[in-house]
Amino acid sequence: MTDFLKIVRDRRSANKFIENINIPRKDFHEIFEELTLAPSAFNLQHARYYVIEDKELTDKVYEASFKQYKIKTASATIVITGDKKAHLNASEIYEGSKMLGILDKTEYNMMLDIINNLYEGWGESFQHDEAIRNASLSAMLFMLLAKNKGWDTCPMIYFEKDKIRELLNISDNEVPVLMVTMGKMDKSSSKIRGARKTTSEFVKFY
Ligand SMILES: Cc1cc2nc3c(=O)[nH]c(=O)nc-3n(C[C@H](O)[C@H](O)[C@H](O)COP(=O)(O)O)c2cc1C
Repeated sequence: MTDFLKIVRDRRSANKFIENINIPRKDFHEIFEELTLAPSAFNLQHARYYVIEDKELTDKVYEASFKQYKIKTASATIVITGDKKAHLNASEIYEGSKMLGILDKTEYNMMLDIINNLYEGWGESFQHDEAIRNASLSAMLFMLLAKNKGWDTCPMIYFEKDKIRELLNISDNEVPVLMVTMGKMDKSSSKIRGARKTTSEFVKFY
C-alpha cells in the first residue's frame, strides 16, 4: 500500500481525543505550507483558517457547538471559512504572474475581466457556492495533511454559525463552512466505520 492510500484508509472522524496534548506550532506551519497547494477556482484561494487553542475560547466554541464533547478534548479546533468576495483579490493574485511574465498585460486584463464578469454576473448565490466549494476542497486536504503528520481530525457542521462568527470576529464576507477538531484520537471510544455505498451506487460512466 502506498503512503497516500494508508493515510486515506487510516483517516477516521475522531469521536474523542486524548486530552492535554499540544500540537507543535511547527506541525501547523508545515501543514499550512503544503495546504497552499490546494486547488481553487481561478486560483482565488477562498479558504480561511481560524485555529483555536485557547482554553477559554474553546469553552465558548463548545457551547456554540451544541456541547459536542470532542471539542473539549481536542488539542485544537479549527474553523474554516470561505471568502465570498475572493474575486476582489484577483488583481493581487495575478499581479505576480504578470510580473514574472507568465501573463502579458492583455492576458492579465482578460483574466481579470473573466473573473469579474463571472463572480459579479452570476451574483451572490454563485459567490456563496464558490466559498463553500473551495473551502471544502481545502478542508479535505487539510485533514489528509494533518493525518500525514499523525494528527487525527473530525469535520463538523453542527455549530451555530452566527455565534461562531461573533466569537471569532469573522467578517460578513466569509461563510463559516466547517469546523475541524484536531488532536490524537482516543481509540477507546472509536466506533466501527459506518457502512459505505458500493461504487456502483454512486458512480456512473457514460
Ligand atoms: C460535512 C461534514 C459534517 C460533519 N459534521 C459532524 C459533526 O457535526 N459532528 C460529528 O461528530 N461528526 C461530523 N462529521 C463526521 C461524519 O459523521 C463522518 O465523517 C462519517 O460518519 C464517516 O466516518 P469516518 O469519517 O470516520 O469515515 C461530519 C462530516 C462531514 C463530511
